[in-house]
Amino acid sequence: MHNQINDLFSNLWQDYVAVTPSAKKIHALLGSSQQDDVQNDHIALRTFNIEKINLEKLAAHFRVLGYVECGEYHFETKKLYAKHFEHPDATQPKVFISELLLEKCSAELQTIVHKLVDQIDAAAVTADNFLYSGRHWDIDQATYETLLEESEYAAWVSVWGFRANHFTVSVNALKNFETLGSVNDALKAAGFALNTSGGEIKGSEEVKLKQSSTLADEAMVEFIDGKRMIPSCFYEFARRFPMDDGRLYPGFVAASADKIFESTNAR
Ligand code: NI
Repeated sequence: MHNQINDLFSNLWQDYVAVTPSAKKIHALLGSSQQDDVQNDHIALRTFNIEKINLEKLAAHFRVLGYVECGEYHFETKKLYAKHFEHPDATQPKVFISELLLEKCSAELQTIVHKLVDQIDAAAVTADNFLYSGRHWDIDQATYETLLEESEYAAWVSVWGFRANHFTVSVNALKNFETLGSVNDALKAAGFALNTSGGEIKGSEEVKLKQSSTLADEAMVEFIDGKRMIPSCFYEFARRFPMDDGRLYPGFVAASADKIFESTNAR
């Protein structure tokens, strides 16, 4: 089971760094030379709430590996719903999966998204590689722009499909850094741009979780009618604080996650 989990996250990572080259550089920047102390706190995945590919279809790939649903989150303005999953072995990364609630979106957006999702072979959704299989449809630039006007989230999924939206460095596990602020300072000194929506640091010790993130890299996307650079994926940093029982808080904070979503906005 642990080998299967390791294989899944390894494949997700390879796919993610292929469109997020800065993640590899940051991994090297934050890690100490002696130990493998850059540990993955969680990944996040995005989808639409169409039954064929909804949150539960993505979650099924983790449930079979022993992951358990541990929390749910609502994002009214962004029209998103999310759940997070944990493994009984707390050293395994957590998983955050969100879905866009299409019935809250315009009829035009719904029509576009259904046309994209109709192109997916249903068998692909249960295949072992689905979570890092990318885009299963063709799209033109005007359609991307139409989605972008209404929902940055919808536009992102329309070009990147199914893959890790971000990985997250556990600041608690780093040997060379203690605070999230010192991680942010090192990133900025090395020239990486941070997401400043809601401040560089989202959350607080009071809510048991502080998070920051880079702004997404850009990578080349092939549309039906040409190629262009589009925001891809970003890297997140999380410091967790102990609860009354001494265990580190394992959940997420909706107000912070709401701002983290904006890391894929165009710069
Ligand atoms: Ni995250």
